Amino acid sequence: MRQSTEVLAIDFGTSNSAVGVSINGKSQILELEQGKQTLPTALFFDFEEKTVAYGSHAEQALFEGAWGRYMRALKSLLGTPLIRESSVFLGKRMTYIQIVARFLSEMKQRAEVQTGHKYTQALSGRPVRFHADPKRDAQALADLSECYEIAGFQDVRFMNEPEAAARAQAHVLNAGDLGLVIDIGGGTSDFTLFRSERDGAIDIIQSEGLRLGGTDFDRLLSFEHVMPLMGRDSQIRHAFGKATHIAPNGIFADLATWQKIPFLYSPNTLRAAKDLLQYAVEPDKLKRLMRVLKDERGHDLAFAVEAAKIELNTKVVAYVEMRLDALEKQMTSQLPALGLAHTLHPSAKQIADMAKQCTGQADFTPEDVTLLILVGGSSLMQVVQTAVSKEFPSARVHHGAALTGIIEGLAQATTEWQT
Ligand SMILES: Nc1ncnc2c1ncn2[C@@H]1O[C@H](COP(=O)(O)OP(=O)(O)OP(=O)(O)O)[C@@H](O)[C@H]1O
Ligand SMILES: [Mg+2]
Repeated sequence: MRQSTEVLAIDFGTSNSAVGVSINGKSQILELEQGKQTLPTALFFDFEEKTVAYGSHAEQALFEGAWGRYMRALKSLLGTPLIRESSVFLGKRMTYIQIVARFLSEMKQRAEVQTGHKYTQALSGRPVRFHADPKRDAQALADLSECYEIAGFQDVRFMNEPEAAARAQAHVLNAGDLGLVIDIGGGTSDFTLFRSERDGAIDIIQSEGLRLGGTDFDRLLSFEHVMPLMGRDSQIRHAFGKATHIAPNGIFADLATWQKIPFLYSPNTLRAAKDLLQYAVEPDKLKRLMRVLKDERGHDLAFAVEAAKIELNTKVVAYVEMRLDALEKQMTSQLPALGLAHTLHPSAKQIADMAKQCTGQADFTPEDVTLLILVGGSSLMQVVQTAVSKEFPSARVHHGAALTGIIEGLAQATTEWQT
């Protein structure tokens, strides 16, 4: 076996990405932005400056109201037909495959500047399941492989994200532990059951995955608590006569979904929203929808919901105010703690059930699990922690590094790369 220092470990996340390397057998996470070990998985095509901003700079451009197109959660497009759609940005027609490739290439370049190495080999994390449907799942992996190739990597290998996380936790393991890694990220929830051996090694027993994560929490909260302010579920008159029907959900569902927002900024959607407004029983609500679409402020809403989710999760308060300037100047709306719990409870239950299923598939009972390792930003959600820990009564709970647990393990694993 030859140790290599020229493999770049990449955790391409739905919300946050990270890169790592191994130098002289010691793994290291690189700083993709100054002082930060992670980079928000976001791009901003600035139409005025004719530049592309990445990570926090992309967010800054969005918040400052720069003229351009912001994108986030692109990983969720892998394996769907939308990843092959194209648009003209900065005078060039690009598919979303090429846009993801640009993001990967930017991470590669930033790593190369820091270490002075050229990287053509990548060890990439992957969710255990991008999609439940095996065909779509395989397509997502093929799509991501294509993105890496366009970004300039010649040899890309994949490791299940929770397996990488398990490898990085040697310091908290007791010999003989039956551990379960639960990685709840932005787009997926991933599980790995493993046995800790006497020599400090780990034996992977079973992995499982669910296409459900923090961006889905945002989607559900937005759909339930914000979209009604814009006409979701409101009555629309028929063109003739007095009868009414409920506004169709399509635009509202997409506007609540991070990765779908850029696709809504089209003449077709505007026309559809205008039709709804024309016959709306509550036109004030539909006017807000028109405004958001016209001003391209969908991401402002998504950020407001995400911020409220995190604030409610961190503070003991009955509600938080969401700032909804995108709908109307100075507008705010309350997101109640009980409302959040009610909306997210079924998702938390689904995650806990999948954790149990992962254990059961390997013929263990939840009581056999001695250690739960929680990683991923959404593992910080109380509603998830409560649902999961209830199912594993004998396990001690360890909170790994929420945002860097995966990249730590991937960087370590580059030392085992065999040429
Ligand atoms: N303090 C917090 N409380 C609740 N949720 C949080 C908190 N901090 C971050 N999150 C959520 O965590 C998610 C991002 O987590 P993470 O960075 O682990 O995902 P990711 O690795 O990019 O996604 P994936 O692994 O699913 O592709 C976001 O949905 C974010 O809203
Ligand atoms: Mg992740």
